[in-house]
Amino acid sequence: MVKSVTVRAPCSTANLGPGFDVFGLALDAFYDEVTVTKKGKGITIVSSDDIPLKLEQNTAGLVAKEMKKKKKLTGGIEIKIRKNVPSGFGMGSSAASAAGCAIAINRLYNLKLNQNQLVSYAGIGEKASAGSIHYDNVAASVLGGFVIVDSSPLSVIRIEAPKDLILCVAVPEIKVPKKKTKVSRSVIPKTVKLSDSITNLANAANIVAGFLNKDSSLIGKSVEDVIVEPARKHMIPGFNNVKNNALRAGAFGVTISGAGPSMIAFGSKNQNLKKIGAAMKKGFKSAKVDCDIVICKPSKGPKIVKVVK
Ligand code: HSE
Repeated sequence: MVKSVTVRAPCSTANLGPGFDVFGLALDAFYDEVTVTKKGKGITIVSSDDIPLKLEQNTAGLVAKEMKKKKKLTGGIEIKIRKNVPSGFGMGSSAASAAGCAIAINRLYNLKLNQNQLVSYAGIGEKASAGSIHYDNVAASVLGGFVIVDSSPLSVIRIEAPKDLILCVAVPEIKVPKKKTKVSRSVIPKTVKLSDSITNLANAANIVAGFLNKDSSLIGKSVEDVIVEPARKHMIPGFNNVKNNALRAGAFGVTISGAGPSMIAFGSKNQNLKKIGAAMKKGFKSAKVDCDIVICKPSKGPKIVKVVK
């Protein structure tokens, strides 16, 4: 009988510009580590990081609660979380913990859930941070690579990323509101112009073609979003300079990572990613904001790193 399972789940970037709530890409940058152990009574959450330990406020806790109820799991569960993904910066932090928890419970109780079921459970965790369920980040954290999510009914398609795709994420050192995703979703227009939806649709289709044809340049050039980005960019100090500097430094394309405030530039191994990172840093500096630069590849996905019997 398995007593405990530890999973490392990757961070991710959602939307990739025009694929709002539909596209996700797992990033080989930060991983949350979630250990689920059969222990005690009920569900307890343990962490030395600055995250809510109350069940209803914790993304992994909500996932465990739902899985325990739906799958009629008996006995207690302890969830130990080591947070590495920066929280509230548009890198799928809550999703990484939620995904790690769903995968760990699946293995711990030998539930044999398929990928859609795992994504569906992990998505419940998003409610704790975003106020609504969307599956783009969790699908990327559960499956790795590039994902396309259709949420009703839920289905997820995974495409392997091109080997030469490299991302440069600029994470600004600004104070983010507590319910940041909820706030940044509230500024999005409720209706869109047909011409804008055509532009975004064409770009989104080209992103999918880029992943299928392993064409990093096509992916990067297609992350242009004329609907959500213009509505959110005022929330990111120095946005225009960060974007224009990165493009001038050779990035194929630049957009907001998920709900922000991080910005993500797309390049390939032929680009000078350090130069692009420095250009983005300069862009944030123009608004008197410091930032961390993370240069990374797509992640292949989560890993079960320890099973204790
Ligand atoms: N698609 C989501 C958004 C990702 O942009 O609001 C954030 O979790």
